[in-house]
Amino acid sequence: MTVQIPIIRPTLPPFDEVEGALREVWASGMLTVGQNGRDLEAEFAARCDAPHAVSMSSCTSGLILLVQAMNLPEGGEVIVPAFTFAATAHAVVWNRLTPVFADCKRSDLTLDVESTRNRMTENTVAIMATTIFGVPPDMDELIALAEEAGIPLILDSAQALGSTYKGKTMGSFGVGEVFSMSPTKVATACEAGVITTRDPELAARLKRSRDYGKAPDGQDMEFVGLSARLSEFHAIVARATLRHLDEYIAHRLAGIEEYKKRLDGLPGISFVGPGPDRTTSCNYMVIRVGAGAAMPRNDLYGALAERGIQTKKYFFPALHQQTAFAPMHDGASLPEAESAAAECLAVPLYGHISEETIDTVCQAIRDILGANP
Ligand SMILES: Cc1ncc(COP(=O)(O)O)c(C=O)c1O
Repeated sequence: MTVQIPIIRPTLPPFDEVEGALREVWASGMLTVGQNGRDLEAEFAARCDAPHAVSMSSCTSGLILLVQAMNLPEGGEVIVPAFTFAATAHAVVWNRLTPVFADCKRSDLTLDVESTRNRMTENTVAIMATTIFGVPPDMDELIALAEEAGIPLILDSAQALGSTYKGKTMGSFGVGEVFSMSPTKVATACEAGVITTRDPELAARLKRSRDYGKAPDGQDMEFVGLSARLSEFHAIVARATLRHLDEYIAHRLAGIEEYKKRLDGLPGISFVGPGPDRTTSCNYMVIRVGAGAAMPRNDLYGALAERGIQTKKYFFPALHQQTAFAPMHDGASLPEAESAAAECLAVPLYGHISEETIDTVCQAIRDILGANP
């Protein structure tokens, strides 16, 4: 069955909002790290209430370079959530560090602070935490834990653009936060990453890191960086979607409420969302297909696919069970992450999704689970 309702449809502003700027860049020949890139950084920093923002080609390259900038001792252990997207742990391994997987909380699936504490040893050199589906982790507790241990807290904020924690927008926590503007995110640049930080020296270093590690003279290589600059075309799209961020989030939030209304009360089906002290960017609408549901998550996924409705087993497998990372895992039991990986199903959600699409998806879910009359 071909996909009729995809899980993701990027929401882009009207083309005339970017056309003039794209033409100007085309004519100017200034294709990368130009005025649009600088404007994006200023606008992104303002939106995230952070003094500095540094654009990157992707969140993953940003994470790799942010971890590199911490100068952590080779082989040191970095606590990462077992329930996150793989790029969080990629950044650790690319830096010749060892990921140590910690469990997630059942309530909102973010990194469990107690599990993090239990997994720390004298070799722990950093903690990485992730905003999950738009829900920020327990920032106060994680900051306290990192401070107590004297190690950096690094935030994978790929899905956090527009999320808030205790009334504060995400972007100014930890040593730095790395956001993604890939096509699956609430505001996209087609592809991009942005690092926010309060540390001006770190921001300056990251600008050199994304440009091979060049010294300010532009010739000598101070250290080994990456080629991870953001093109002006991407910066133009990023600036345009950023301007619409609140509108996209509001639309997604309304979509999530529609889903909840239509699926409420289905046996075994529950919803994943933030507690009262934080808000979500609504990057994903995730339902949990638990005990008591008419069929397991995987069967529901397959049955929806047969009807042309694309969903995502997300995040699955849990990180410590993925081929790339299983050999690095010490075998500790991580029951909540494993259960979440087995039960969570992301359903279609866009910044412009129609009520009709949501209704079709919900009718199909109810039908498959035998809940329609
Ligand atoms: C939690 C998380 N981290 C990192 C990434 C990687 O982002 P990018 O594709 O911009 O490298 C993603 C993208 O889906 C993500 O969801």
